[in-house]
Amino acid sequence: MPKHNVAVVILAAGKGTRMKSARHKVLHEVGGKAMLHHLLDSVHSLAPEKTVIVVGAERDQVEAAVCDCEIVAQTEQLGTGHAVMMASEALETYSGDVLVLYGDVPFIPSNLMKEMIQVRDDGGNTGLVVLGFRPKDPARYGRLVTARDGSLERIVEYKDASAAERAIDLCNSGMMLIDGEKLFAWLDRLSNKNAAGEYYLTDLVAVARADGHSVAVVEAAEDDVLGINSREDLAHAEARFQHKRRKTAMAAGVTLVDPETVYFSHDTRLAADVIIEPNVFFGPGVVIEDNVIIKAYSHIEGARIRAGASVGPFARLRPGADIGPEAKIGNFVEVKKAKLERGVKVSHLSYIGDAFIGADANIGAGTITCNYDGFLKFETHIGAGAFIGSNTALVAPVKIGDGALVAAGSVITNNVEKDALAIARGQQYDRPGFAAEFRAAQTSKKAALDAKKGK
Ligand code: UD1
Ligand code: MG
Repeated sequence: MPKHNVAVVILAAGKGTRMKSARHKVLHEVGGKAMLHHLLDSVHSLAPEKTVIVVGAERDQVEAAVCDCEIVAQTEQLGTGHAVMMASEALETYSGDVLVLYGDVPFIPSNLMKEMIQVRDDGGNTGLVVLGFRPKDPARYGRLVTARDGSLERIVEYKDASAAERAIDLCNSGMMLIDGEKLFAWLDRLSNKNAAGEYYLTDLVAVARADGHSVAVVEAAEDDVLGINSREDLAHAEARFQHKRRKTAMAAGVTLVDPETVYFSHDTRLAADVIIEPNVFFGPGVVIEDNVIIKAYSHIEGARIRAGASVGPFARLRPGADIGPEAKIGNFVEVKKAKLERGVKVSHLSYIGDAFIGADANIGAGTITCNYDGFLKFETHIGAGAFIGSNTALVAPVKIGDGALVAAGSVITNNVEKDALAIARGQQYDRPGFAAEFRAAQTSKKAALDAKKGK
């Protein structure tokens, strides 16, 4: 058990101008989940006493997106130190440690957070633990100036750094664990007399040392402290997320024929021996049981696909699609809010929405459930073992009994009894020999006309 409780302060008041978005930066999604929620997932595993989010503009958006966090406002962005000061009221009665995170650095593994907590607990006089890293390109990050014993002396912002300091490759990720009993008194001692005219959180290092505390550094890998500031960064984070997700899927026994072309959601659940062909996209809320094959170019969201089913190629499964065991969904089939029982076949070119289809029913090519009258949605119920002929329109609400046959090309508006045959189309009428007579008559008419024109 850690010696101190921990509260988390997430900074998210920066303007995020490079995103060029009306949406708050931390609500942009990676793998279908807001970056803030990726971060909060890791934070939850620390079971913090309190989580405070510091926001500037678009406060309402963040408020609507989170529940068990306290939101505080920083109306003017006067620096990272100033931003943490905004949490002082929210943490007034709290005296444990405070972990400062950035809302736009969402993929810090929780074990790194735990390591920072451990380092502070182990070092008796350690007042502060900074998460550092050695980026390939140190660019404009703050530099960590360390003493011979590896402890941290101070952080110097790039703008304020000398050439020698800029040559240091150990950089500040921005994440910090601070003795909460001291934090706000230390923050009061910050000044904004620096190149940016801001209250730097990083100056706490010097303040803590001046108070006789030592400051430790925990080193992270660059990928773990990846920040997202632009659409390009977002795409990069997405690529990393997908890369990892594909690897975990394969490690868990899923075959990805061409991994780089399959896109998962943060919550895609896949059992073993699932095969996924190239160019498949998963939106949120998909559960796939074992031995399912998803064929190429399918788009699947909010769907459950049960054991042994086959889906695609070119299938579209939308929220509420529940595909039964051993069922088959073929090409250009769209299924929405519909339960298909074991062995159902919808092999070609169909729309199935707001429907129930009983076991082993066969739905012919081009069958459409007409579920919407422009105002309301209605249900179609197809019994077990029914056979729906091709190009049938089932005008809901309508029920097709178990084992019933519906003739191809029907427009079904009334319920069909169990084991009955329903035909609802124009009747066929044949005249033997008519085509030959017609051909002969027209040929001679045309010849007479041509002769007149002197052709
Ligand atoms: C900060 C660090 C720098 C570090 C870098 C890592 C300081 C002074 N500098 O610099 O050492 O290398 O992060 O990316 O801390 N924020 C607020 N309110 C503010 C200012 C910032 O909430 O008034 C938030 C931002 O939304 C962002 C985070 O704090 O999530 C960092 O702000 P940013 O402006 O990116 O800091 P840097 O100058 O990059
Ligand atoms: Mg920054």
